[in-house]
Amino acid sequence: MVNDLWYKNAIVYCLSVGTFMDANGDGIGDFQGLMRRLDYLQGLGITTIWLMPFQPSPCRDNGYDISDYYNVDPRYGTLGDFTEFTHACRQRGLRVLIDLVVNHTSDQHAWFKEARRDPQSKYRDWYVWSKKKPANAKDGVVFPGVQKSTWTYDKEASMWYFHRFYDFQPDLNTANPYVQAELLKIMGFWIQLGVSGFRMDAVPFVIATKGAQVKKPVEQYDMLRTFREFLQWREGDAIILAEANVLPDTDMQYFGDEGERLQMMFNFQVNQNTFYALASADTGPLKKALLATKARAATAQWGVFLRNHDELDLGRLAPQQRETVFAAFGPDPGMQLYERGIRRRLAPMLDGDRHRLELAYSLMLTLPGTPVVRYGDEIGMGDDLRLPERECARTPMQWSTEPHGGFTKHSRPVSRVISGGPYGFERVNVASQRRDPNSLLNWMERMIRMRKEVPEISWGDFAILRTSRDDVLAIRFDWRNNSVVCVHNFSPAACTVKFRVGPAAGDTRTLVNLLSDDHGEADAAGRHAVVLEPYGYRWYRVGGLDYLLKRSEV
Ligand code: GLC
Ligand code: CA
Repeated sequence: MVNDLWYKNAIVYCLSVGTFMDANGDGIGDFQGLMRRLDYLQGLGITTIWLMPFQPSPCRDNGYDISDYYNVDPRYGTLGDFTEFTHACRQRGLRVLIDLVVNHTSDQHAWFKEARRDPQSKYRDWYVWSKKKPANAKDGVVFPGVQKSTWTYDKEASMWYFHRFYDFQPDLNTANPYVQAELLKIMGFWIQLGVSGFRMDAVPFVIATKGAQVKKPVEQYDMLRTFREFLQWREGDAIILAEANVLPDTDMQYFGDEGERLQMMFNFQVNQNTFYALASADTGPLKKALLATKARAATAQWGVFLRNHDELDLGRLAPQQRETVFAAFGPDPGMQLYERGIRRRLAPMLDGDRHRLELAYSLMLTLPGTPVVRYGDEIGMGDDLRLPERECARTPMQWSTEPHGGFTKHSRPVSRVISGGPYGFERVNVASQRRDPNSLLNWMERMIRMRKEVPEISWGDFAILRTSRDDVLAIRFDWRNNSVVCVHNFSPAACTVKFRVGPAAGDTRTLVNLLSDDHGEADAAGRHAVVLEPYGYRWYRVGGLDYLLKRSEV
């Protein structure tokens, strides 16, 4: 299979149209506004935009309750605007991924309305029904504390319907071949309009067996191959990036042993253990998570991230570890959510501490995989904990010190921008940070630029180097005769750390510091010692020669 593996060395940026930029002044972000900000995104150096759902929706779950898969919600624009947008992205060499939310529809979708109204309708079997209340109706809720059940009685149908998520999100019967065909049709539609693939929502649930008789859902992994094949028949280099928070021993089921299933998956295992390392300065569990998720075909790729639009899910940590993260980053019950996570943004979790933010982002950019940046994190945006559930971390982008942070000209926007305090738009915004060469935004731009010049991280094989300290993580990447070593100090104290670089690629043992002038030199046995600042980090290229020169020798 010959494909363009563009996603391997990509930098993904995720945003919702509704909270990014409002062009027509009605208080809601739109495609026209987003288009005006594409030069900003291109300047930041990102290569791929991931759009959260923008299709028509009652918006009771931030658009993850779709009522028409083949349209744009009029609040955000039209299909015409959408194609202008993908065109404008292509002009700038930016790719677009969109959310594919097909585990469930909105209860306002015409299919569900038809299904509940008419037992003879072909749509009845597109959903999952039961005449009696299933015994396990209380099991498997995804939003504990908010969602009570996974089955709800529908008066119109006089039956119970299954919903893995909220009750207004009836699950599609994904085993039904007609539903499967429709799902492919949805992918085909958006591919025609210029997207390069999909972030597929809730994949383990999409492929699980569903129904009142199902005691323990079984994943039908082969469906993933069907999705991928269809996509690549239509568009050779299109991809699927899976949201699948699963245990490492099932990763290969999602990627496929030969990489024949999904190209990308978010690495939730590494994400949770990253936060544990940030909270405790103990890098042991993170190293284990990295090794446990190492196996994958050459074409497969992890998506690595810090925060996303949902809560920081810590459900896979040991209870003691989870308590450590809660204590450090979300001690207040109001900061926690669904009995397993933290709903804050990154900057407030790290107390706005620039050194820690840099450590966290430098680490994310150098973990094996493709980095996924959350909009606003590049300027250190905060959260509004007065908003319910996950809404607190989905406030409008802060562009300037103009009213409403320059997000809208409307006097009362639907989503309110954060104002006042350390994270208000008056202090945290793009315009001010742009003018300051030392701002987080400009630091991020430089880091992203360098990250794209270090393809070893995306393409190469990695090894965790033995270090003299548990609070320092050192990873070495090798690719095409080039090597890079990235070192991160998780501790608030400065330290001297010793590590073995390993075999040098060239004839010299120089460690070229890619971010500053302070280079290093390993001894004859490949050992090196470096003094790291509190939360300090280094990116070294081993061997000293310009990697471009060396690459051309291969
Ligand atoms: C995914 C989304 C989340 C949404 C849920 C239901 O987990 O990330 O935001 O609520 O699916 O669609
Ligand atoms: Ca608007």
